[in-house]
Amino acid sequence: MEATFREQLFFIVLCLSVLNGDTRYIQENEITPEGLFSLLNSELKREIQDELIYSRPLRCLDMVALEGQFTFTADRPQLSCAAFFIAEPNRVITVEYDDVDIDCGGGDFIKVFDGWVMKGEKFPSSQDHTLPLMERYVDYCDSGTARRTVRSSQNVAMVFFRVHTAGSSFTLTVRKPVNPFPCNIISQTPEGSFTMVIPQQHRNCSFSIIYPVEIKIAELSLGHLNDFHIKKSLPGCVGAGDFVELLGGNGMDTSKMLPVADLCYNFNGPAQMKISCDNTVVRMVSSGKFVNRVAFEYRLLDRQELQRIKGNSLEDFCLTG
Ligand SMILES: *[C@@H]1O[C@H](CO)[C@@H](O)[C@H](O)[C@H]1NC(C)=O
Repeated sequence: MEATFREQLFFIVLCLSVLNGDTRYIQENEITPEGLFSLLNSELKREIQDELIYSRPLRCLDMVALEGQFTFTADRPQLSCAAFFIAEPNRVITVEYDDVDIDCGGGDFIKVFDGWVMKGEKFPSSQDHTLPLMERYVDYCDSGTARRTVRSSQNVAMVFFRVHTAGSSFTLTVRKPVNPFPCNIISQTPEGSFTMVIPQQHRNCSFSIIYPVEIKIAELSLGHLNDFHIKKSLPGCVGAGDFVELLGGNGMDTSKMLPVADLCYNFNGPAQMKISCDNTVVRMVSSGKFVNRVAFEYRLLDRQELQRIKGNSLEDFCLTG
């Protein structure tokens, strides 16, 4: 895909807006190519309304948020296709290959990726995913019938595919099993609330919101409280093995985003912040020694708020030009 990161992101935001029935953001920001919007509108709305086992054709660039069967049939060579999959925060995605009729020997492929990749940036970042990068790609042609079903580690996954011959086709059956311990998440909506808990595990979890938002941390409880305060001699959160960071940026990879705030002390009661970036992330770093928990809510910034922030360049480090 030759689209820029912003174009890809807007495609996703557009699809999510239609799915959520909330088009305020795309209308306010005039990011809508008219034709694409009306096309998506009718097809995605049908996707929501259908209650039976849902099935529809898969497009070369697509977004899937429902369980069902999605069939791609090439009407010409399609060398660079990508479908984004997203589920609710507490679910993962399974993708099963069915009726695959592609020419693996001739260079065709269907690859499931455990996460999202946009312009080379990955979510979850390589740092925060438990699998090495190579193992996050499962190519139908390499694994053949050995792995007919691929399961994601979080609520997002992607399928890349390439077919050289008209008439080639395949079907993907998508399901969304419950994930009792969600860690890395991309929000489907521009507003909502979430409580992230890391139960004595040495891992880091990120909650990513691909909209400019105000975020309100309602409660933060880090098991280390007493331990850390005694030892604390450095400024900020340096030295804390357990903390929460708020990140802002205009890409997907949390390891390339800028810190807006570091929080390493317990509190109750809201701390809030407006972040005008394309992507806002709440990331919890956990040493594994404690049970850590952060509860937060978020809402979309309106146009006036965004303009106010953009007018004050001190506040805005997400100027995208
Ligand atoms: C979690 O993140 C911290 C800081 O970003 C890093 O030092 C640590 O190695 C990470 N832990 C794991 C398990 O990846």
